[in-house]
Amino acid sequence: MFERLELITADSILSLMAAFRADPDPRKVDLGVGVYRDDRGETPVPAAVRAAERTLLERQTTKTYVGPAGNPGFNQEMARLVLGSDHPALTAGRVRLIQSPGGCGALRLGAELIRHASPDSVVHLSTPTWVNHTPLLSGSGLKLERYPYYDAARGAVSFAGMLAAFEQLPPRAVVLLHASCHNPTGADLSQGEWRELLSLVKRRQLLPFIDMAYQGLGEGLDADAFGLRLFCAELPEVMFAVSCSKNFGLYRERAGALGVMCESPAEADAAMSQLVRLARGLWSMPPDHGAAIVHGLLSDAALKAQWVAEVDAMRERVRGLRREVVRQLAEHCPGRDFGFIARHNGMFSLFGITTAQVRELRARHHVYMVDDSRMNVAGLSRTNLEYFARSVAAVLAGGTAR
Ligand SMILES: Cc1ncc(COP(=O)(O)O)c(C=O)c1O
Repeated sequence: MFERLELITADSILSLMAAFRADPDPRKVDLGVGVYRDDRGETPVPAAVRAAERTLLERQTTKTYVGPAGNPGFNQEMARLVLGSDHPALTAGRVRLIQSPGGCGALRLGAELIRHASPDSVVHLSTPTWVNHTPLLSGSGLKLERYPYYDAARGAVSFAGMLAAFEQLPPRAVVLLHASCHNPTGADLSQGEWRELLSLVKRRQLLPFIDMAYQGLGEGLDADAFGLRLFCAELPEVMFAVSCSKNFGLYRERAGALGVMCESPAEADAAMSQLVRLARGLWSMPPDHGAAIVHGLLSDAALKAQWVAEVDAMRERVRGLRREVVRQLAEHCPGRDFGFIARHNGMFSLFGITTAQVRELRARHHVYMVDDSRMNVAGLSRTNLEYFARSVAAVLAGGTAR
């Protein structure tokens, strides 16, 4: 049977990680993989998360199964973190969360639910979007299509293009939206744009599926959830995928949740029962450890306050780097405006150079970013910022500039 299988290459981000690891040059700069980094280039476990983990290890007496829906306390705390504790949809009992293996598990499970409820549904993804959205969502058998999202010339959301595309969609079309810190562009909707989008989504009866993988890393824990909270307050149905990988630093523990908001508590119960059944057929039970840490942390006021301060510090570090890289680039590449980088949110920006230039940066200067020029700003630091700007200047001066 397996003799029929072709050898395929890993996806662009995974191959980039491997190439970076293999590069012996001490000047190498990793702007590829999407993990937060501190000024020493490390991806730390936040102190509040470590403290919650220690308590968990001391108190845990069994590792028996928790159940296909995961840790109920985690699901409850995550609903409050995402929506805010007094959100009307929570008070009305219309929201259910199911724990998943990371945000990826939530995206996949959400796609399975859509496919089960309405097999011919089409999911519309932004152009561009995170590379893994395609296999995660199409793996369930759903058809995918694209809507325009980014205007590379301005380094900003192409909001008019997005609205025009949504205007053409049939009722019940699923639109995948990034809550904040759009991956890969870094360009987010403003609050006014979320409001305008809401009225269109309502009028055209579209189903929003909101991916929130970076809560707290854009403008703040509440500000980053603005669109999601607004949509859940105003629409009959919303789905959302949440990840604890970046903001809790729990990447490999695989903690996340899928949320479904329905028109009534009875419909929400039915959706939850289907989700439990679907999860049973995918992974049976989600991994416990990361979710148990998050539950312990969020239900302890002091630890939660400590964690919020740590998330604030991560966000402020990236925002500071954005301002600094714009300054350095203005100095070293005076002919080109990179000011849009400071207007972006979260860890990523589409840098806006050609694939040939990205490859030259990698080959000659050991600066690694994804071929589409997605850069992880958190990979920069005080020690490599100037080297980065000089390397970009050398590549742009090399005649390969667009
Ligand atoms: C846009 C987006 N969604 C979801 C995820 C899911 O992350 P995880 O499965 O690691 O929690 C990521 C991770 O990089 C992401 O960038």
